[in-house]
Amino acid sequence: MNTSSRLKNLFRATALLASVCGTALPALALEIDLPAETALYQQSDMPGYTLTLQNCLMCHSAQYVQYQPKTSPRSYWEATVKKMKHPFGAPFPEGDIPAMVDYLTKTYGAESSAANSGK
Ligand code: HEC
Repeated sequence: MNTSSRLKNLFRATALLASVCGTALPALALEIDLPAETALYQQSDMPGYTLTLQNCLMCHSAQYVQYQPKTSPRSYWEATVKKMKHPFGAPFPEGDIPAMVDYLTKTYGAESSAANSGK
């Protein structure tokens, strides 16, 4: 390492220390690249499928849904969907809940073919 790059490093370290100790803390921009979330909801003729596409993709992909146990009963899906609204703040109308719960239970939960095929 030559003198110039040592000086540069010293300058960076001093600047970092100054911003950590001073009030300029928010100026430390931290960039984190997460992998793109791309998991899609399984297509279906059930009315809840379209509602789920409309209401559930604004915050996260279908990944969270796919990772729930296949044995999850209807009551679990209902509680989960309601939790997305309160307290998480999803803006869908109450009236959309039953159809989405039906789609989720029959596609990803206890009433799905995967749950009942012994897999
Ligand atoms: C307002 C943003 C938002 C919307 C819209 C939303 N979610 Fe979520 N969801 C979250 C947050 C926040 C978490 C919790 C993430 C964590 O714990 O790391 C979450 C987690 C989950 C989980 C993981 C299990 C759990 O209980 O935490 C499932 C399943 C899920 N969401 C399903 C859905 C479904 C189905 C919909 C549509 C009805 C939906 N989400 C819409 C914000 C949202």
